[in-house]
Amino acid sequence: MRMEGTAAVVTGGSRGIGLAVARELLAAGASVLIGARGKDGLEQALGTLGPAPGRLVAAAGNAGDEGDVRRWAGLALETFGRLDHVVVNAGGNAPLGPAVTGDPQAWRDTFAVNVHGPLALVRAAWEGWMREHGGSVVTVITEGVHGVGPGLAAYETSKAALLQLTRHLAAELAPRVRVNAVSPGLVRTELARFWWEQDEAALAAATPLARLGEPEDVARAVVWLLSGQAAWVTGTDLLVDGGRRVRAGMVGHGSADEAEGPGGRD
Ligand SMILES: NC(=O)c1ccc[n+]([C@@H]2O[C@H](COP(=O)([O-])OP(=O)(O)OC[C@H]3O[C@@H](n4cnc5c(N)ncnc54)[C@H](OP(=O)(O)O)[C@@H]3O)[C@@H](O)[C@H]2O)c1
Repeated sequence: MRMEGTAAVVTGGSRGIGLAVARELLAAGASVLIGARGKDGLEQALGTLGPAPGRLVAAAGNAGDEGDVRRWAGLALETFGRLDHVVVNAGGNAPLGPAVTGDPQAWRDTFAVNVHGPLALVRAAWEGWMREHGGSVVTVITEGVHGVGPGLAAYETSKAALLQLTRHLAAELAPRVRVNAVSPGLVRTELARFWWEQDEAALAAATPLARLGEPEDVARAVVWLLSGQAAWVTGTDLLVDGGRRVRAGMVGHGSADEAEGPGGRD
């Protein structure tokens, strides 16, 4: 996947999945702007990712602030002279309680990060570069939108909205721009630490591919979708979950190691 001469904005690029996406993009030859709120985290990320002279920039901002995301797009255009790729990745998933009692402002903030900010960023990329030159966008959703996580109504509802926005953008911006989603399962990052740290072995055992996800597992899928290798793919939602979703719908386990073959019950 060679992406020399292209440029990307990765939101939430200071750690976890976004940092891994930035690393893969740099390795493929692209220039990258990483955006996040925390300046220390961005500094650390620059140290981890660099050196990449002239190809790596960090900028603080809130992915839910439309002015900040437009500034990211503008800075990428100014620094790299182009903006071929946008990765909508920033986000948190603090449980906000039941839908009927959750804080309305927290709901609005969650939708700002997962819907309004991403739309403003794609609009800026479209206006500044993609309308004329083309490009590709990947949004990071969650495998959780296929079910219902307790206390995660705001997070999952806004991610479901982002997935539907992804499909609309794919239809609207074709054929010049491809827009796709990646839906990760449980990945060993800070965001998900609460879930995976409690009993990692049991979670791995419940996963057909027998381990939790690493940021690189998701990043490679993101970069593949961004790249020309996925030239005929748009509007898709790529599940990257180690097979958890197929097993979630099953009664009992489906692994050939555990299943009895035909006639084996007698
Ligand atoms: N890990 C999982 O199991 C999992 C599963 C499904 C989906 N996802 C999705 O994957 C994406 C990345 O998550 P992750 O697991 O890599 O999380 P992470 O390790 O906590 O990293 C999140 C990144 O986003 C930034 N960020 C968070 N809120 C932001 C905001 N409002 N504005 C700007 N930057 C913000 C963080 O930096 P600052 O805090 O400094 O801003 C950080 O760089 C998220 O959209 C998440 O919903 C993760």
